[in-house]
Amino acid sequence: MSGRGWLIVFEGIDGTGKSTQCREMESYLKNIKIPVARFREPTDGIWGQKIREILTVGRGNLTREEELSWFIKDRREDVKNNILPALNLNKIVLLDRYYYSTAAYQGALGLDPKEILRENEKFAPTPDRTYIFKAPTEECLSRIKSSRESNSSFEKLDYLNQVQKIFNSFNESHIKRIRSSETIEDIHAQLCEDIHQLIGV
Ligand code: TYD
Repeated sequence: MSGRGWLIVFEGIDGTGKSTQCREMESYLKNIKIPVARFREPTDGIWGQKIREILTVGRGNLTREEELSWFIKDRREDVKNNILPALNLNKIVLLDRYYYSTAAYQGALGLDPKEILRENEKFAPTPDRTYIFKAPTEECLSRIKSSRESNSSFEKLDYLNQVQKIFNSFNESHIKRIRSSETIEDIHAQLCEDIHQLIGV
């Protein structure tokens, strides 16, 4: 899968500041004229739209296996249409959520996280770096609640604690954990330093 740019993934539960850091990194890299593309999952494609619907109206009768298959179909499209083409143009690809989210969130429904990772790794390129953002789940929930009108079935405390536990269990060498208690500026500086080291520029 290589001959390519760099795949840098931002993971963690909502309210940890990962999306803010992902956007800031895009602006920073653009400013210093390093070719960059930023994507997010779920995407805005057809499967991503179906997923966003269950995020607002709830899971209803959808089984956990069906839910998993939607996230995987959405990712297949993202890999084919967005991620691989940008990597092939030697860009730095910043990705707001990827298959570690699937292993953690759908794993927290009782599916096997390792099996979910294996299934994804068959078609999705391995990240060069994955930042897993971490903050106390109670804190994340109150941040989510103050920024949204209602919280979805993906944002309940017990469920998020289980999601967090699975995020904690990943230990691949490209994973770095980011403590969200530091300031936005400090975290950004830390990530810039790491990315410069990673890409060697
Ligand atoms: P999120 O990044 O929070 O999107 P938004 O900022 O638009 O709300 O993603 C939506 C939710 O989808 C989030 O609660 C995590 C969940 N999710 C999964 O359950 N599995 C996955 O594979 C992905 C990518 C996301």
